Amino acid sequence: MNSVTSTLETYRPAMHYAAKDTWLNDPNGLVFHEGIYHLYYQNNPFGNVHSNMSWGHATSTDLVSWKEQPVAIPCDDAEEIYSGSIVVDTANSSGFGVDGKAPLVAIYTSAYKPGSPHEGTQAQSIAWSTDGGYTWTKYAGNPVLTRNSPEFRDPKVFRYNGPAGSYWVMAAVEAHAFTVLLYRSEDLKKWEYLSTFGPANGTGGIWECPDLFELPLNDDAAAMKWVLTVNMNPGGPNGGSAGQYFVGEFDGVTFSSETTLTEGMQDPERVPDYQWLDWGRDYYAAVSFSNVPDGRRLMIGWMNNWQYANHIPTSPWRSPMSLVRDVSLVSVNGQPRLVQQPVPEVRAASIFTAPLQRVTVNGQVPVEGGTAVQLIDITITPGSAEEVGLVVRGSANGTVGTRIGIRPGNGELIVDRTRSGDTRFHEAFPSSSRAPIAAGQDGSYTLQIFVDHCSVEVFANGGLVTVTELIFPDRTQTSLVLYSTGGTADAALQLTNIGKKEA
Ligand code: FRU
Repeated sequence: MNSVTSTLETYRPAMHYAAKDTWLNDPNGLVFHEGIYHLYYQNNPFGNVHSNMSWGHATSTDLVSWKEQPVAIPCDDAEEIYSGSIVVDTANSSGFGVDGKAPLVAIYTSAYKPGSPHEGTQAQSIAWSTDGGYTWTKYAGNPVLTRNSPEFRDPKVFRYNGPAGSYWVMAAVEAHAFTVLLYRSEDLKKWEYLSTFGPANGTGGIWECPDLFELPLNDDAAAMKWVLTVNMNPGGPNGGSAGQYFVGEFDGVTFSSETTLTEGMQDPERVPDYQWLDWGRDYYAAVSFSNVPDGRRLMIGWMNNWQYANHIPTSPWRSPMSLVRDVSLVSVNGQPRLVQQPVPEVRAASIFTAPLQRVTVNGQVPVEGGTAVQLIDITITPGSAEEVGLVVRGSANGTVGTRIGIRPGNGELIVDRTRSGDTRFHEAFPSSSRAPIAAGQDGSYTLQIFVDHCSVEVFANGGLVTVTELIFPDRTQTSLVLYSTGGTADAALQLTNIGKKEA
């Protein structure tokens, strides 16, 4: 690698997907099929800013190493290909299958261009693949669902099998109305309106990229609940793009939420009380995979924020995806709450785990073993400290780094990237995100922190609270420092270096 290339590639993630030399945003069409995980995504095949929206494509067998594939569904003169989903049409309800082989059907938003007969509208269209998702044919009858609306998009389709019958259900947003609209279909071509959910809870920004899926509560298959996720831009709990979720019932027609705190438009004072998929600034447009075996619900988010997305200092590519998360549902004080954990496949990619270190922290304590890409498992007992935590991806002299701290008095987790490295490319970037955090029964806090060349992902409270943030440190920033202010704390930490195979 020559020096020019290595400078440009400073921030290329080791553990996350990023395109080779183009722009990406939302994950699309996430599907597991014949042993392969397919990650399609909003992609500009011709540059590294948001434009020419097409579906890019990458594949993986282990959810950690991704191989970029040719563009799957390119934009054309009439339309850009906005976000959507893919289903495996096992019974060939669409009739697109050949030789008894089930087709994959993509349901995407046609964002019509000036000059198109549908100019000024966004509508839902379909395309199919009979070669396992590598080449796609658009349906001649597109669009299959229009409301003649300029902001109707992001269809997430799944197979509903329940008391009301067996059929396809689509969740899509009317973005500026803060609503999720549900439709049903027998063949993925004709769609019938079912119901509307929203506005509710967070409405500080337009609603985008919904998802609706079923999960057992507390692993109890007799206690299934439905989860509606919807992304919102801007107005997130720490600014800009963010995702929220609701838990309730879906009877095949209507989703009823039992976690709504505000019916109608949001109460600005209650924003911290709503259920956020992630409290950080860089986990957006998250959606789940279809067709994953064993009842696993896997989600990926786009690790960026529309506030500054087109400006992050990466080149020639722009924007990574998050790690893949396993999502489950638990009861907390009688309320259903999502738990998110990085898939165990990430830990399985570990190449070295250092012995557990127990450290008494009063002031600053440098720790051996910091690297640019690692997993940090830490349990903190705050003792008399007002704030205790660690600075990751720090400079050798300790003046720069990303601060991840706990303030037990305020029940707060803080991820401060104001001195994380390059922050000057956009005024909204230098920031400190805060999330509510609770101590375990013994008064300690356990965090899993995944550090990569341009990100930190913090999983706290057993995955009930996550904070995902982009950072742009120099490659030489690898130091790790424990710190406390106002008193003495104890920390037990274990460092794991992670490497991945070439896909
Ligand atoms: C969300 C979003 C979607 C849209 C896509 C366009 O980030 O705005 O609503 O389909 O991006 O790229």
